[in-house]
Amino acid sequence: MADRFRDKVVVITGTGAGQARTAALRFAAEGALVVGCDVDGPAANETERLVRAAGGTIECLPDVDLTVESEAERVMGFAADRFGGIDVLYNNATRWAGGSPTTMDPDAFRWTITNVLDLSWLATKRAYPYMRDRDGASIVFIGSIAGIGGWTGFPGGSSETFAYGCAKAAVIRMASVLAIELAPIRVNVVSPGPIRTVTTEPVFGEPGTPFHALYRDGMLVDRIGEPDDVVSAAMFLTSSEASWVTGQHLAVDGGFLGSHGAGRPDPAVTGPIAARFSGRATRASRQQSIEGL
Ligand SMILES: NC(=O)c1ccc[n+]([C@@H]2O[C@H](COP(=O)([O-])OP(=O)(O)OC[C@H]3O[C@@H](n4cnc5c(N)ncnc54)[C@H](O)[C@@H]3O)[C@@H](O)[C@H]2O)c1
Repeated sequence: MADRFRDKVVVITGTGAGQARTAALRFAAEGALVVGCDVDGPAANETERLVRAAGGTIECLPDVDLTVESEAERVMGFAADRFGGIDVLYNNATRWAGGSPTTMDPDAFRWTITNVLDLSWLATKRAYPYMRDRDGASIVFIGSIAGIGGWTGFPGGSSETFAYGCAKAAVIRMASVLAIELAPIRVNVVSPGPIRTVTTEPVFGEPGTPFHALYRDGMLVDRIGEPDDVVSAAMFLTSSEASWVTGQHLAVDGGFLGSHGAGRPDPAVTGPIAARFSGRATRASRQQSIEGL
């Protein structure tokens, strides 16, 4: 097994669930001294139990609300006191409320911005003093393809992710500023597409159901993502393998953005087009051929 994080202090936010639980297990398996935290206390404790049962080193702080600056300090100060500093900050924690731009309650909008954007900034602000003297220190933000323009974040033009998408767009922007401000600490963003977790499974549906197909048909790789897909990218970016990579944004989305959500070629469409053009030169290419003579 790779050992890329031997004795590195890795703080992961929102370790009670989903991708961050996978991250805690995988960083610990590669030798990291992991510090986790979550607003959901029992969930954070369960991750701590799982990592220790697998032989890893972890301390998980339960009942931490990272939208409160003193709470962010509690986590980062704990990591520094317990392990001597922070080498990697994995900004993952997020909570959000759904709602469209024309109907959403302003309190729900503000709550979402706070629980996506503010907490990522506050965690970083409070981790920085414990990171700035560490060789090879690195931060990864988890964005989302919902934060990238050109679509709403859900298939079918649904705008329920309105506030979430605005906040994730700001997270991506914030990371690019921090890459400059905090250098030589490296700062990168991973933006997942739809990832199967306990929370999202009911939303995406089972393979074969129409909503599931709406997602999958927009991709180039024929499946919904798994937490490991995101964690693998984040581990590369925070490891010494990426020691010359900073200020970058990587979409881990099965090719959703790479195809603008159009997915793989549809033979029902491409077939007639190919037949129309097969063996014929277009007017422009005929002209080029003549000019090239
Ligand atoms: N799952 C997907 O399809 C998907 C797609 C794109 C982006 N993402 C992003 O990936 C990351 C992980 O997603 P996930 O599906 O594993 O999420 P999740 O909801 O399963 O886990 C997020 C964890 O963060 C914790 N948390 C939320 N607010 C907190 C706060 N204020 N203080 C402390 N902890 C808090 C939650 O309690 C939860 O345990 C998030 O940033 C999410 O926006 C997920």
